[in-house]
Amino acid sequence: MISVLIPAAGSGERLGMGAKALLELRGKTLLERAVQAFAGIATEIIVALPEANLELLVQNARVVGGGATRQESVQNLLAAATGDIVLIHDAARPFLPREVIERVLEAVQRVGAATAALPVADTLVLEDSGNWGQVTDRSKMRAVQTPQGFKRSLLLEAHQKALLEGVSATDDAGLVARLGLPVALCLGDERLFKVTRAGDWALATAFAEVWDNGLSS
Ligand code: CTP
Ligand code: MG
Repeated sequence: MISVLIPAAGSGERLGMGAKALLELRGKTLLERAVQAFAGIATEIIVALPEANLELLVQNARVVGGGATRQESVQNLLAAATGDIVLIHDAARPFLPREVIERVLEAVQRVGAATAALPVADTLVLEDSGNWGQVTDRSKMRAVQTPQGFKRSLLLEAHQKALLEGVSATDDAGLVARLGLPVALCLGDERLFKVTRAGDWALATAFAEVWDNGLSS
C-alpha cells in the first residue's frame, strides 16, 4: 500500500502571491497537478492545506491541516497515513514525470528510503563576505528534490526523534539520514524544479503549455 503525502500548507512568502499550492497554471492549481501525477500509483493521497483553506475539496485526496513549518505539516500527514510505503511530494513542484516516481519507488523497496536528486550544472562556490570563497567539487553535489519515499515506520521514527531532539529540516530524507540509515539517491529531473521565486513562476507559466501538450520529453 502506497500513501502519497503532499505538503501544500505553505504561505508562499518568497513568491508573494498568496498560498502557493493554490495558484493556477493553465486552469489547474499546483496542488491539482501534484495530485494528478500519482494517478494509478497511490492507494491513498493526503494533502496538508493551510488552516484557512481546509474546506477546499481536492479531487481524489483527503485533506488535513498543515502546521507552522513543512516538518509539522508532514507530521500531520504522517499521522493520517496508513500505507506501509509513504511517498512525499511538495505541491510546489507541479511537473512530476512518471519515471521519477517509478525510480523512487523501486529504490524504496530496495533500500527503505530514497529521494529524487539531480546533478548540479552550475559551478558551486562558498561565499566569503560577498566574495568568492572556496569552490566545492560539483561532480559530487546533488540538488535534492521530491518525491521522497520511505517505509512509513522508518519515517515515523525519524520524525519522532527529530521532534524529541528539537531538530528541524527542510526535507524528510535529511531526517532519515540523521538516524545513520541509507537514503538512496535516484535521478530526478530538470522539469521537477520547485516554484519558489518570481523567476520560477515565470518559467512555470511558460512551461505549463509545453508540459500539458506532452512536448517536454
Ligand atoms: N509547506 C507546508 N507547510 C508549511 C510550509 C511549507 O506544507 N508550513 C509546503 C509548501 O506548501 C510546499 C512545500 O512545503 O509545497 C515546500 O515549501 P516551500 O517551497 O518553501 O513553500 P512555502 O513555504 O509556501 O514558500 P515560502 O518558504 O517562500 O514561504
Ligand atoms: Mg517554505
